[in-house]
Amino acid sequence: MSNSTVYLQFLLLLLRVLVIGNVGLFIVNGVVDEYRRDDFPAEFVFGSGTSAYQVEGAVLEDGRSFSIWDTFAHSGYYDGANGDVACDGYHKYKEDIQLIADTGLEAYRFSISWSRLIPNGRGSVNVKGLQYYNNFINELVSHGIQPHVTLFHDDLPQILEDEYGGWISRKAVKDYLAYVDVCFREFGDRVLHWTTFNEANVFSLGGYDLGFTPPGRCSSPFGVANCINGNSSYEPYLVAHHLLLAHASAVRLYRKKYQARQHGFVGINVFSYWFEPYTNTMEDLKATQRANDFYVGWFVNPLVNGDYPEIVKKNAGNRIPTFTKLESERIKGSFDFIGINHYNTLHVKDNPSSLETDTRDFIADMATTLIYSGSDIPPTQFLVEPLGLQKLLTYMKEEYGNPPIYIHENGQVQPRNGTLIDTPRVEYLRAYIGALLDALRNGSNTRGYFVWSFFDLFELMDGYKSGYGMYYVDLNDKELTRYPKLSAHWYTSFLEGKNISQDDIFLNLEAKETLSSSH
Ligand SMILES: *[C@@H]1O[C@H](CO)[C@@H](O)[C@H](O)[C@H]1NC(C)=O
Ligand SMILES: *[C@@H]1O[C@H](CO)[C@@H](O)[C@H](O)[C@H]1NC(C)=O
Ligand SMILES: *[C@@H]1O[C@H](CO)[C@@H](O)[C@H](O)[C@H]1NC(C)=O
Ligand SMILES: *[C@@H]1O[C@H](CO)[C@@H](O)[C@H](O)[C@H]1NC(C)=O
Repeated sequence: MSNSTVYLQFLLLLLRVLVIGNVGLFIVNGVVDEYRRDDFPAEFVFGSGTSAYQVEGAVLEDGRSFSIWDTFAHSGYYDGANGDVACDGYHKYKEDIQLIADTGLEAYRFSISWSRLIPNGRGSVNVKGLQYYNNFINELVSHGIQPHVTLFHDDLPQILEDEYGGWISRKAVKDYLAYVDVCFREFGDRVLHWTTFNEANVFSLGGYDLGFTPPGRCSSPFGVANCINGNSSYEPYLVAHHLLLAHASAVRLYRKKYQARQHGFVGINVFSYWFEPYTNTMEDLKATQRANDFYVGWFVNPLVNGDYPEIVKKNAGNRIPTFTKLESERIKGSFDFIGINHYNTLHVKDNPSSLETDTRDFIADMATTLIYSGSDIPPTQFLVEPLGLQKLLTYMKEEYGNPPIYIHENGQVQPRNGTLIDTPRVEYLRAYIGALLDALRNGSNTRGYFVWSFFDLFELMDGYKSGYGMYYVDLNDKELTRYPKLSAHWYTSFLEGKNISQDDIFLNLEAKETLSSSH
């Protein structure tokens, strides 16, 4: 693809110059339809992100050991694909951070691989792993980019999974605490934003009920057919409980030992759909509240109010663990921000029949049917429904007392086929960032926004079949060359201060068809 790509890049460069030179020509279409970087507070941060297993590669290099995600990928779940090489980020970090800087990102979200830093899960620190993350962080900081670090992104060291079952055991809490202590101690002089767990709810649900994310556990009749022996009725609740205890101890540790000196912030991340009732019947309205309580309240209610939502406790019965009084006190308020990953809106229908049997999983306990107007299966694109984000932020404000929020992930998926003219992604980002501005103006306490993802990387759901990246990584090229898509240029021009409007040249590229076919 190299010749046409060079041509394309040249054209895009030209277009950028054109766009910047012609800002004055845009038609004003109203608040959401026209905005620019300066409309957001200066201290608000815009960035993009990735995670360790999804980009680093070098999985057995310099002392790193396998994580549960390596094992899951090598079990054949992704039709043979895995993160052994991924984007080779481990070796290319300097040029990647140059790209991050050139794109104009103010912050970069990435995760630390526990099994690279502490290959035995606990005990001695791997000097090479430590050096890698120090280099990485220093490189970001020297370019003026804020590092936002995820401490756990689905990748528990396999050695701990083998030893005691990983997160189904409470022993994981202690090992996690020792691991994050190393991170705070070694990197906390430069890292101010820490996220304890990425998508804590998806990790619990996908990994232990549905079985389609690491470690891939579930029990019949629930989840995927070929999952590893688990217990879909019980383990999701148990794992979530341990994650909450681990999160709270991490925050407590940070506050006692580091915060006075380092002045950073610690939060947790949850995946959040926006839920709309399928009809306006009382049943569907209640089902919608229930879906929110199960998906978001499961984690956020303990953090804000010290316990699980009543309906979750009621429907899960004795399968959900209880917090002691002390645990509850320690969990309540144990966050400086909530991280949200949001992509799309679902419609919720009451499904009371799922409560009629005693053998239930988390999904049956929720007693809802979730309906998506588009297709929810990547790589099919998401519908562009920016009001979903706005309503979600209003919900967080009203239900949970307006906590500080980071939108840690938001973005559009497409088949990973080398298309650089990703107009649907530009349309999606333009709409969602506009909705975010509306939410901020309406009092939301959101502090930052990160596009998922910076590169096309190894995706959790389907490996290399889909891509969310603003940069395409050509897997057929030994050099794994990165190519900017239209969305990268669009984001740069937004970050450089250009007015974003519906008449954006990036959305109305006359040469669009020609460009796609020449590529
Ligand atoms: C850009 O948009 C702002 C409103 O956000 C408007 O005040 C300003 O006049 C616009 N600037 C140009 C050059 O169009
Ligand atoms: C799951 O765990 C619960 C609670 O320990 C137990 O009652 C149930 O029999 C287990 N189910 C399976 C399939 O192992
Ligand atoms: C790649 O995907 C895009 C976006 O879905 C689609 O429009 C295009 O036709 C596809 N191209 C190829 C070569 O499959
Ligand atoms: C603005 O905030 C108010 C109060 O939280 C809420 O009732 C309203 O729905 C919000 N409006 C929009 C457009 O988000």
